[in-house]
Amino acid sequence: MHVALTGATGFLGLRLLRRLLDTHRSVTVLVHAGSGDALHRITRFFALTGAPESFVAELPDRLRVVETEVERPGLGLSRCAFQELADGLGAIWHSAGSINLEGNLPELRRTNVEGTRHVLELAAAGRERPVVHHVSTAFVAGSRRQGVAYEDELDDTYGFENAYERSKYEAEVLVHAWAREHRRPVVVLRPSVLVTDVPPHPELPSHPLQVVERILRDARRSAGPGGPHGTDPGDRPRIRLVGHPHGRLNLMQVEHAAEVMVRLAARPPSGGVDTYHVVHDRDVPVPTIVALLERLVRMSIELVATEPDDPSALEALLDFYPGLTTYLTHRRRFDDTRVRTLFGPSAASGRVDLDYLWSGLAPTGRVPAGPPGTPATATGFPSAQHTPNAAPYAQHA
Ligand SMILES: NC(=O)c1ccc[n+]([C@@H]2O[C@H](COP(=O)([O-])OP(=O)(O)OC[C@H]3O[C@@H](n4cnc5c(N)ncnc54)[C@H](OP(=O)(O)O)[C@@H]3O)[C@@H](O)[C@H]2O)c1
Repeated sequence: MHVALTGATGFLGLRLLRRLLDTHRSVTVLVHAGSGDALHRITRFFALTGAPESFVAELPDRLRVVETEVERPGLGLSRCAFQELADGLGAIWHSAGSINLEGNLPELRRTNVEGTRHVLELAAAGRERPVVHHVSTAFVAGSRRQGVAYEDELDDTYGFENAYERSKYEAEVLVHAWAREHRRPVVVLRPSVLVTDVPPHPELPSHPLQVVERILRDARRSAGPGGPHGTDPGDRPRIRLVGHPHGRLNLMQVEHAAEVMVRLAARPPSGGVDTYHVVHDRDVPVPTIVALLERLVRMSIELVATEPDDPSALEALLDFYPGLTTYLTHRRRFDDTRVRTLFGPSAASGRVDLDYLWSGLAPTGRVPAGPPGTPATATGFPSAQHTPNAAPYAQHA
């Protein structure tokens, strides 16, 4: 069965691609037209994260690169190329999207909703009736800040924290309507916030916490020192952020999330829409996130129940980023009974704690390689010095 993947150059897409290449001799990558040399970016990712040289060298033969624009009807392809692409596929993974938490709704709808519509049209056109694996987000649960969000829930009762969440919700609604209309199975995968302990590198895609860090750093620079709240004894500006001291956020290792997603997709679909929460079994307490931000941006954060009446320049700037700070108030839990029932303890992942998160954000500019003999790095690859013929690469379908 031949498989296509949208968003293969993305933070998650690259890890999905790595897993798909465990079991598929070749993959068609539907890359973003005009967004840089995708094959080069993919190759650099694998080279930088410890893939064996032989694996990297084979990539040009194993990847069929098709330039697409998900926002355009027919993915921006000619009618003939669109049909030819559709007819060659047994499965389509849709991971392309905009994760811009500060984006406006019309823009996000174009990429996330219309993009999904066009990918579904590709699936509808395929002679082999390809199965669709749609990457959504656990945050379609929207502004429900407490309680439990279940895998079979999809409604807008609580509203949304930002336009990104709404656009992903609308995309899922579209998926359900399409599955009903065409009587086709779809697997909907809902990861939580994806993180890594691979340090930032200019050639690797950034992840949501990096974006948060950048926003805080920029805000701090533009606002200048201090504010009505002054500085702490370490001379760090004090800021008040609305948040709950018992708040918690679900952060999932991107490498593990991709592995779980590909395992889920390998199961026979039920025939309807199968939705899974791909989340960590333990939430990260908000105070841990606060400690991380304080360490990164050299500021002192005080969690407060309501917006201050006398915001400092820095606090006022951060208030412009509704997608950013609102999650510090969240105390909800994502139920993932379906995934745990299927996979048991193997669905559980390692700890995401302050050290793990720091490693994925600290500006060291280098990607760690495990010591010789290390069976696998955080990326899931054998370390560069380790045996290049490790099992995952031997299993081409
Ligand atoms: N990251 C998270 O924490 C997280 C959590 C839950 C769910 N998700 C979901 O996971 C999916 C992937 O996210 P990600 O973290 O990998 O995001 P990302 O790093 O921003 O990657 C987005 C991917 O989509 C491609 N793309 C964007 N616009 C496109 C267009 N108009 N046409 C074709 N391709 C386009 C990008 O290509 P270029 O790079 O070439 O532009 C890139 O490959 C998204 O659907 C997101 O909603 C992500």
